[in-house]
Amino acid sequence: MQELIQKLPKIELHSHLEGTIKPDVAQEIARRNSVSLDKDLFLNDGSYAWHDFADFLTAYDSVSSCLRSGKDYKDITYEYLKECAKENVIYAETFISPDHASECGIPYDDMISGIVSGIDDAERDFGIIGRIIVTCVRHLGPKQGLNVVQTMVNNPHPYIVGFGMGGDENAFTLEEFAPVYKVAEEAGYECTVHAGEICGPESVWDAINYLPVSRIGHGVNSFKDEKLMNELLKRNIHLEICPGSNLALSIFPSWDAHPLPEIMNKSISISLNSDDPPFFNTTVGQEYQNSAKNFNLDIEDLKKISLMAMRASFANSKIKTLLIEKIQKFKS
Ligand code: ADE
Ligand code: ZN
Repeated sequence: MQELIQKLPKIELHSHLEGTIKPDVAQEIARRNSVSLDKDLFLNDGSYAWHDFADFLTAYDSVSSCLRSGKDYKDITYEYLKECAKENVIYAETFISPDHASECGIPYDDMISGIVSGIDDAERDFGIIGRIIVTCVRHLGPKQGLNVVQTMVNNPHPYIVGFGMGGDENAFTLEEFAPVYKVAEEAGYECTVHAGEICGPESVWDAINYLPVSRIGHGVNSFKDEKLMNELLKRNIHLEICPGSNLALSIFPSWDAHPLPEIMNKSISISLNSDDPPFFNTTVGQEYQNSAKNFNLDIEDLKKISLMAMRASFANSKIKTLLIEKIQKFKS
């Protein structure tokens, strides 16, 4: 079964590019940029140190602070896609944060051209297709969000396929971000937003009531509200689920307590994702392996998940059709 899962073509819809940087890569990039990373960022075994969600967001900012150029963005993109391709991920959308780049003095254009060139090299070398979702940071507020979305809309690139938002779910309200998302929607971008991860079902209601989203980042706490689950199904809202991240952040105490089976039983569209792989000691491949083991999913269930993910992706219809066919052809 493990081997079969390894061979299954997989899709990643929810990862944060700056959160994919492995500790040794962060140290190396920091060294070449003469940036000194906080010693408290690392445990003795070299992994990242953090103990709760707020602390994780701070550690994420610290890791991102090693970056100084478009070339750094190129390298981390290539490295992330290379690791994905090893696990037969055939398509990966990754969130990028212009606010983090700007904090490091990297202009938006440099960031994008670096990432684009990492995507091109990875497709040439490994056949994986990478695409970009530009995100704003919720706790930096809607004014800054507007800045980010306007920059995205004024500088289009065919690899930029969507708009999203991460950060502290308790900061501001989603209603306050409605004008930000409106800019993305009117320019033709598909949208997603983190909700129902730290906060409850009410945050997912806010997301679908105030924002033009077809996907929710996490959304796992929706399971607490039957009416919401029905609404997600009715509106065909996809949930980008990251079980390893949820367990690492203690959103749920154990695999047994995780609501993925309940959500799947409702026929809500879902995907399996890594979120911030080295922070949560995971990869997309491991999410598929762990879900098979802990949720008792067979290879046909996992194939269905890959298909749901590809259908919910923000890829153009040509890529969608091609990759859906590729997954369908997989024989278990
Ligand atoms: N930024 C990076 N990872 C995140 C997560 N899991 N939730 C919210 N914001 C994030
Ligand atoms: Zn996330």
